[in-house]
Amino acid sequence: MDNPKKNKRKILVTQALPYANAPLHLGHILEAVQTDIWTRFQNINNNECYFFCADDTHGTPVMLKANELGITPEELIKDVYEDHKSTYELYNIKFANFHSTHSDENKKFSELIYNKAKSNNLITKATIEQYYDEKEKMFLSDRFIKGTCPKCGADDQNGDSCNECGASYEVQDLKNPISILSNTQPIKKDSEHIFFDLPQKTEMLKDFLKNVQLQKSIKNKLNEWLGDDLKKWDISRDAPYFGFEIPDEKNKFFYVWVDAPIGYIASISNWANKNDLNMNDLWSDKSDYEIHHFIGKDIAYFHGLFWPALLDSAGFRLPDVINVHGFLTINGEKMSKSKGTGILARDFVNITNPETLRYYFAAKLNNKVEDIDLNFDDYVQRINSDLVGKYLNIASRSASFLKKNKNIISEDINHDVLKNLVEKKNVVIDLYDSKQYSKLIRIVMDLADDINKYINEETPWKKDNQEAVTIASTAINAFKILSIYLHPIIPNITKEAFKFLNIDLSSIDDVDKILTNKINNYKPLLNRLDKIIIPEEEDMNNVNLINIDQFSTVDLRVAKIIDAKDVEGADKLLQLNLDVGDLGTKNVFAGIKSAYKPDELIDRLVVLVNNLEPRKMKFGLSEGMILASSNENGIYLVSPDDGAKPGMKVR
Ligand code: MSP
Ligand code: ZN
Repeated sequence: MDNPKKNKRKILVTQALPYANAPLHLGHILEAVQTDIWTRFQNINNNECYFFCADDTHGTPVMLKANELGITPEELIKDVYEDHKSTYELYNIKFANFHSTHSDENKKFSELIYNKAKSNNLITKATIEQYYDEKEKMFLSDRFIKGTCPKCGADDQNGDSCNECGASYEVQDLKNPISILSNTQPIKKDSEHIFFDLPQKTEMLKDFLKNVQLQKSIKNKLNEWLGDDLKKWDISRDAPYFGFEIPDEKNKFFYVWVDAPIGYIASISNWANKNDLNMNDLWSDKSDYEIHHFIGKDIAYFHGLFWPALLDSAGFRLPDVINVHGFLTINGEKMSKSKGTGILARDFVNITNPETLRYYFAAKLNNKVEDIDLNFDDYVQRINSDLVGKYLNIASRSASFLKKNKNIISEDINHDVLKNLVEKKNVVIDLYDSKQYSKLIRIVMDLADDINKYINEETPWKKDNQEAVTIASTAINAFKILSIYLHPIIPNITKEAFKFLNIDLSSIDDVDKILTNKINNYKPLLNRLDKIIIPEEEDMNNVNLINIDQFSTVDLRVAKIIDAKDVEGADKLLQLNLDVGDLGTKNVFAGIKSAYKPDELIDRLVVLVNNLEPRKMKFGLSEGMILASSNENGIYLVSPDDGAKPGMKVR
């Protein structure tokens, strides 16, 4: 049913499409949380707002990653798609649709937008000289070249800039260039490329920057770039490339940054088809949906210049809002695997409740382009003090007194106490709408403080039953209001809160309603967090070296399993009888029961540590150990190739 509210806004929201060559990290979650909070808020504020995303699947890194794994790019992006989608779900990110740039819709819209640009005389061609890796048979972008800095002579520097002296340069000026793909010296080779004539769009882009809602600092940067004579944009890449072929060209592919933002449109179109909606009503020159992009500061150039130019030439509505956020650091440092701060989003939920990360991010986010630090100690302190100590504390304190009233909220409440909370509604709405979440959280927590203070001062534990119920009923109404205000930030915890209160939330206007119903017994909605310790990454390079003599003290032998059976009273072990050729037979207990059935082991060759000290176990004597590898998915026995005979030495 249509919402009766007037001024109902219609809004399409996107976040940047994550690259499909790696799992999501907490920086991706920061962006998703900022966007999801905004979308959820718009919906409880009686607007119609949908959040779209997709995986960004094309380009060289995906192709190389798939090669490295020995799978096709299609297989890789399929796995990553499932992984990304389920990881976002862990954080309660609610998409209207999560699609892929490797889709029919995206191919269709990419071709359409390219053909429009072409018919508007915005497409040109030119031959450029590029480095080419003869071994890998591919052209190399700057990031795949290393060499000696032309300014300071430092070795092993990037294709376009030097980490030692900070110089930036053209890749052609780099000395002793080396392809990082094959470690060979690349040659220079000509190739014809296709360009989008960005300079023709200069005036249009100046107008766009006047109209779009975008942070001032970014606008200034973009205007600077516009002032410095724009260059034509190279939109083609040579085969081999994982992407869409450019229509009417041979072996030329769209550069990934052409079809990536078109993926926004593709995701919406895919959703429109599933819901019987017309794309012209959603995103066209005639549609009345506002378009809002949420992105990180590193990709403002693409969204502020190339993207509106492409859209404009194809006659699509231009973005109304581009919201740019800063970068996430962890404990003050750039995220890095080796320091244990490159923690993956899907692993972090094993350490803490994901809603608390949403809360912490919100407590730090504002509408500026500032970097944001996730400090683990501050995080734990913040959650325990705000969510557990202030907000939820109100519910648990009130619940104990309401229990004495059969869990029924009294009509007799202190309206003055609630008035201030209800009156904050418009402030809360403005702060959500303008993405000033940290300020908003400060205000909501101040309100929570007021209520806790009210309970402390009224001392319901010293009062008679009726008075205590009045105080608790007032406080529980306050808790309801705070839950509504916090809902976009912690949707799951507040959903549980509404269940406890026996109500459904439909709109932020519900803060005006007074509860007089029966509630449920209170169960803690969040436990206090303990200190966060991230398990250190194993340092693969830091191994203890041994010499060959030390190694040869281990007597490894080929052995054949001649008998295998379950061990009574041991749920992980199998008892194996091994034929070790001339050395006779050995009895070994192996912890492989979860992965192997006794029957399938008979006659199998394995590798035995023959001179391991025998170990007396409660089931019998174990006279050695067989080699196996394991991870969280299973156990994998090591076997010699066919032809090896029991008793042979392994070295
Ligand atoms: N695929 C492109 C975007 C195409 S949009 C048409 C891309 N992908 S990305 O996976 O590298 O980044 C996705 C988003 O995450 C970007 O907005 C990027 O700014 C953001 N972040 C990546 N690292 C981040 C942090 N450390 N902190 C916050 N956001 C970060 O760029
Ligand atoms: Zn240098």
